[in-house]
Amino acid sequence: MAHQTIIVVDFGGQYNQLIARRVRECKVYCEVVPYTKALQVIKQKQPQGIIFTGGPASVYEPGAPAIESEVFNLGIPVLGICYGAQLMAQALGGKVAPASLREYGKTLVDFDNAEGALFAGLPKQNNVWMSHGVMIEEVPAGFSVTAHTPSCPVAVMEDTQRHFYGLQYHPEVTHTENGTEMLRRFLYDVCGCTGDWTMGDYAKTAIETVRAQIGDGKVLLALSGGVDSSVVAALLAKAVGPRLSCIFVDHGLMRKNEGDEIEQVFGNGDMHFVRVNAADRFLSKLAGVDDPETKRKIIGEEFIRVFEDEAKKIGKVDFLAQGTIYPDVIESGEGDAKVIKSHHNVGGLPAHVDFKEIVEPLRLLFKDEVRQLGKELGLPDYLVNRQPFPGPGLAIRVIGDITVEKLDLLRDADAIFREEIALAGLDKSIHQYFAVLTNMRSVGVMGDSRTYDYTLALRGVTTSDFMTADWARIPYDILEKISGRIVNEVPHINRIVYDITSKPPSTIEWE
Ligand code: XMP
Repeated sequence: MAHQTIIVVDFGGQYNQLIARRVRECKVYCEVVPYTKALQVIKQKQPQGIIFTGGPASVYEPGAPAIESEVFNLGIPVLGICYGAQLMAQALGGKVAPASLREYGKTLVDFDNAEGALFAGLPKQNNVWMSHGVMIEEVPAGFSVTAHTPSCPVAVMEDTQRHFYGLQYHPEVTHTENGTEMLRRFLYDVCGCTGDWTMGDYAKTAIETVRAQIGDGKVLLALSGGVDSSVVAALLAKAVGPRLSCIFVDHGLMRKNEGDEIEQVFGNGDMHFVRVNAADRFLSKLAGVDDPETKRKIIGEEFIRVFEDEAKKIGKVDFLAQGTIYPDVIESGEGDAKVIKSHHNVGGLPAHVDFKEIVEPLRLLFKDEVRQLGKELGLPDYLVNRQPFPGPGLAIRVIGDITVEKLDLLRDADAIFREEIALAGLDKSIHQYFAVLTNMRSVGVMGDSRTYDYTLALRGVTTSDFMTADWARIPYDILEKISGRIVNEVPHINRIVYDITSKPPSTIEWE
């Protein structure tokens, strides 16, 4: 079934994916397309509407990102946000200039025409999120100005005949009051969308689509127990049942009870499920290795070997399934970001394994949609809401060389930390939290005896995209309880520290 579509034209702004997520939250399907390809895609897909994103450039600089002006002749409504609004103003004959006063952060905006298409029924004044050093000085012919702030005369411009709208502020960020409501009005009232994008429908369609793709063939999936691969497994099990083989490589670097939990959920006969207990293989390769990048490389390579060995046992398989999600697919208007760590995803594709086709049923979904889909498919909450867990597992949370004893200590301490955070009701507001066994030992006293044991670090972060993160302000009394329980219940740990660095300059993981 074809969904109504909005094309989000990416000009390299920092909130671009957020815009797309907000549109999807309004139950409207959208795709993010770099500005260089946008016109071609728009002509091909004939979307209900177009959104121009913000961007770091100034529209009047030579070589600034732009889109062919033909886009305004297609009869499709356009909403420009920040840079996108300025671009629209300039392209249609208005004037854009450096702002005498830059505006960053929360600003009170007055809607001079509160009955306008984007604001009907909303308060006449709203706090909005501004972030610009350039502003629209003169609107093009056909436009009227419908909102202003004390230092920005054109906060909103509208051409209700041609259905072009420009917002100087960012409706997609949560700091903008009623921002999602304004987007919703654009989508429903201006573009005529009806809200035909829901996860229930998506599940049905996706099952039919992969069923048609796979036919009577066999499909193989590397199941890590992470949200993405788990949802793919559940979906494919519904689509092709036992013709799906899932290989779960247990590298011995999972958290406490995690391997058994994964086996419980997926080893119930709905699919062909193989758990490979490969801890010995991984740990012997890792013995004595203390360099983080070397650890990652060893684990990545060993993973592929184990996977290939198992795949051979299963025999000829035509399809390989992967948990690729939309943020991995979006080709941004910006250049490539620098690689800080070589991330290894357990779902990685062995380059030289011969498959007919790849099956990627989550390719169009954002992470929150993948979780919703997981719920639709009946996966348990703890799997669907699982915090991210790195492919190399606890190997990069035991600093320095890895031993079974160290892994066991870490598993026990980490389980206590997670249990207490959940008990305190903080497990949704802290986006990732875990324990790290530092390689440092220090002197302590327990009973009447001297100890010389490990220091354990606790890490908790809040973040929207894991690219930047702030350390979580866990209340002292909860930290106290966690610290008390760990030193009492886990032998050989006699000191607990809490990591209070943000990313950057640190990273979320310690290795
Ligand atoms: P860093 O430490 O780079 O982590 O700030 C950012 C996010 O990525 C996760 N992470 C990984 N995920 N394979 C993964 O699948 C990896 O090798 C890997 N290393 C880090 C990390 O847990 C955090 O969520």
